[in-house]
Amino acid sequence: MTMTQAASEFLVQKHPAITRLTCELFISDVHFPDHDPEAWELTCQVAEFLQPEIIFHGGDIYDFYQFSRFEQDPRRQTTLHKEISAANQALRGLWKLTPRSQLFYKPGNHEAGRWEKYLWKVMPELMDHPMIAFRKLLELENDPITFVPNTHLYKIGDLYHAHGDEFPAAKSNPARDIFKSLQGNVIFGHWHTISLYYHRVRAKNRQYGAFGNGCLSNLNPEYTRFPQWQQGVSKVLYTTEGLFHVDQIPYFRTKKGKLGCIVDGELFTV
Ligand SMILES: [Fe+2]
Ligand SMILES: [Fe+2]
Repeated sequence: MTMTQAASEFLVQKHPAITRLTCELFISDVHFPDHDPEAWELTCQVAEFLQPEIIFHGGDIYDFYQFSRFEQDPRRQTTLHKEISAANQALRGLWKLTPRSQLFYKPGNHEAGRWEKYLWKVMPELMDHPMIAFRKLLELENDPITFVPNTHLYKIGDLYHAHGDEFPAAKSNPARDIFKSLQGNVIFGHWHTISLYYHRVRAKNRQYGAFGNGCLSNLNPEYTRFPQWQQGVSKVLYTTEGLFHVDQIPYFRTKKGKLGCIVDGELFTV
């Protein structure tokens, strides 16, 4: 793994070269404990079926409600430790189903962002080592998971991995707006909407893609009413040249009211 200063303003952490056809499952915006338990269970089924070489957690896996700048519901009696423990139990349950998977985690604005702002306010002297403190805070110091600093994009093959808040706020189609800002292939979460944009640069005769990943969170959170969000995950296949193919996997309700999705021609339901 190498750290480089990209030609652009972004810091980039690069994945080692891909040596054989490799499958990745990209998961973002679970927002434990404000997640949708059915969507999480469906994701576990998909992961077990795919047995991906890579699981990339693209941020907002935890909600960090305790650090929320929004007003908090006094009826919600919990502690950060309890929230983190329950989330980690769910995460470890998923990882157990896919023992071959290399695990990555790039925090989003709900984790690093909220934690950082909290530190600014109450413990600014710890700011020198935020990632170390952060991993400990998440009680993941003994888990085989690679942290990607939230200041970096992670690049596997030709595909940048972002949370989504690294770019100016998207106005209509997040995939198009983020592509316009980055001018490169990118997969991201944050916007809780499944979005897609392809762009061919004629001078290079090259085609680029931007892929907005769905969320796995509760679709009616207390801080916003009936948002236009969609649930889902993404499957990425990489060739040894670093080329890739993204399958966005939207979750839907069956006519019997079950949550479902189709992956590689197979129907999964919860
Ligand atoms: Fe999110
Ligand atoms: Fe986010």
